[in-house]
Amino acid sequence: MPINIQKFGVEGINILDIAASLDLNPNDRRLAEVIGLLHDIGRFEQFVKYGTFRDDISEDHAELGLKVLEKIQILNDLPEEEKNIVEFSIKYHNKFMLPQSESADCLVFGKLIRDADKLDILEQLVSEVSPNISTGDECSAEVINSILSGKVVSFTSLKMPGDINLMRMSWILDVNYSLTLKKIMDKQILERLVVKLQQTEEIQKVYAYLKSFIERRIDLDN
Ligand SMILES: [Fe+2]
Repeated sequence: MPINIQKFGVEGINILDIAASLDLNPNDRRLAEVIGLLHDIGRFEQFVKYGTFRDDISEDHAELGLKVLEKIQILNDLPEEEKNIVEFSIKYHNKFMLPQSESADCLVFGKLIRDADKLDILEQLVSEVSPNISTGDECSAEVINSILSGKVVSFTSLKMPGDINLMRMSWILDVNYSLTLKKIMDKQILERLVVKLQQTEEIQKVYAYLKSFIERRIDLDN
């Protein structure tokens, strides 16, 4: 499997754009950039060690990244609070949910990298001709109903071939910041994903639900 080097730089752009939209100060923007650059550092070790980027058959790449950072001690010159923020954000960038019990600062940066990461993955999915995306794939009723009740779909609940794209579409429900949703809307990511699925009435309901979710959230935040 070829390593997509571009993957490791794109979040830097998205995370900076989102950080700018939140009016973060220059130091916090720098911290966001550090998180953007380092959050997938575990991918290199993962590929070297296991020959795959699949966490489910190797190791969680975020946890692996934290071990790499500990080993190379690259964060040691940061103040303790900033080191905690970077580690927290990397650890949770790929988890199903962000724990809400952390400090407000940790949550701001954790939300930032989660938005930037989702956006990057979605942008790549719609910009490349990917063999992983097929046209007309069927979806399961459970996954469709999960989205229609406002829930993000988990990897473990996927049953039918089209469910993986529905899961990616459901990430919209977990987006934290307006700019992320605006970018998703401007790039017509939802439209470009939904055409890959078997066009049924239920899928059109999912599309309408998510489209309306994006529009309402953008309106609310402005
Ligand atoms: Fe990642």
